[in-house]
Amino acid sequence: MTKVITYGTFDLFHEGHYRLLQRAKELGDYLIVGVTTEAYDKARGKLNVVDPLVTRIENVKRTGFADEIIVEESEGQKFNDIKRLGIDIFTVGSDWTGVFDYLKDYCKVVYLERTKNISSTMLREKNSRIQRIGIIGTGRIAGRFIPEAKLVSGVSTQGVYNPHRESAECFARRWEIDAYGNLEDFFSAVDVVYIASPHETHYTYCKEALEHGKHVLCEKPMVLRQAQADELFQCAKERDLILFEGIKTAYCPGFQKLLGIACSGSIGSIRNVEACFTKLESPDSRELTDRRWGGSFTELGSYCMLPILKLFGKEYTNIRFDSINGENGLDLFTKVSLRYPTGMATATCGLGVKSDGRLLIAGTRGYIVAEAPWWKTAYFEVHHEDPGKVQKYSEVFLGDGLRYEICDFLSMINGREHNSFKLTRSDSVTLAGMMEQFLEQSGRQTEEGGITL
Ligand code: CTP
Repeated sequence: MTKVITYGTFDLFHEGHYRLLQRAKELGDYLIVGVTTEAYDKARGKLNVVDPLVTRIENVKRTGFADEIIVEESEGQKFNDIKRLGIDIFTVGSDWTGVFDYLKDYCKVVYLERTKNISSTMLREKNSRIQRIGIIGTGRIAGRFIPEAKLVSGVSTQGVYNPHRESAECFARRWEIDAYGNLEDFFSAVDVVYIASPHETHYTYCKEALEHGKHVLCEKPMVLRQAQADELFQCAKERDLILFEGIKTAYCPGFQKLLGIACSGSIGSIRNVEACFTKLESPDSRELTDRRWGGSFTELGSYCMLPILKLFGKEYTNIRFDSINGENGLDLFTKVSLRYPTGMATATCGLGVKSDGRLLIAGTRGYIVAEAPWWKTAYFEVHHEDPGKVQKYSEVFLGDGLRYEICDFLSMINGREHNSFKLTRSDSVTLAGMMEQFLEQSGRQTEEGGITL
């Protein structure tokens, strides 16, 4: 009996899949089909898979070609399956030609010609209208956003706005997109807006974008006053628009896994969270020279507060800010200490002081530690009393990680889902309140808390 195996996602099952399975079956007597899990697809950078695993398996089953269906969960599984199941032929479509030649030592490898003009990607794009993204701001983060957005199907970057038209043009030339120096023209050319301008401009741009009917993905910190966050979310809700704060850590798979384990009881009840993120900036950088809005807490506080809010919530009984300031009064190093009814937490941010950037979560039965860069969570450990028993967890974190938030933002738009459990509106409102409190305590007024464009 000749045993054949093939693998795929089989999302939005189409003719190409059917023909592939038909021909795979004809190669032998017994066909095994491996269908990928959502987690594995995410890990290999395939975002936005529409059908859940059960539907995809059901669709493969319905063809009648598969004698057996297995689930593909991880890289390296193919080799083991081939050995374990006694496979004679491995086959996939010609889009993979050469990729699986390494399996030739163990079985025959056949690349079947791919059916032309059809793919799950094409169907996904057809089913949901492509969202044209407009970027406000031309700084570093805006440049990182574009290659990440290219990896998410269903969006395309249309153009960039900067009130200094030359900056917009220079950025647009580099990324082959359109440049706008006029906000009205910009808004009429895009469906969604990514705001990556300086902090203090976020509120006004968010408001303008929402009032023009655009969904908004805004870089952190979204705003620097609690009332502004409330107002913007209300404005978005009234217009059935998505307003989304881009703290990329919140959306990355490793951080989700870490939160899941921290809350699973494996370290008992959580009593202490310490999150630290420091990076040394040049003294003449915007972050260290903008006397009103710069400094370490406005820059990095969102990252450090995130695990604290996710694990302890917003019902803290006490909050205290301590900073070491530079000559211009900006905080080079800030420690936020929070007291909760059943625990305590510290967020430490530095732009002019370097420390060990780690996330430590201590519980009644053990602790979790994620070393820097924990904000791009790819690895963490769970420790207990016995130092010999350490559980190690890893999760993929691809590129700059912005693709995960873009993907979630898009899913929210397509599903008209207003709140994401990964970063709730209430989380964003609380974060804005903390920014406000910090700025007030450090003697920086926030009455306006924004600028007039
Ligand atoms: N396949 C094919 N012809 C197509 C599309 C897919 O022969 N037009 C084959 C692939 O080569 C693979 C299998 O079907 O062997 C499952 O592919 P999968 O990646 O699930 O489908 P795609 O449509 O290629 O998905 P995507 O667009 O998400 O990459």
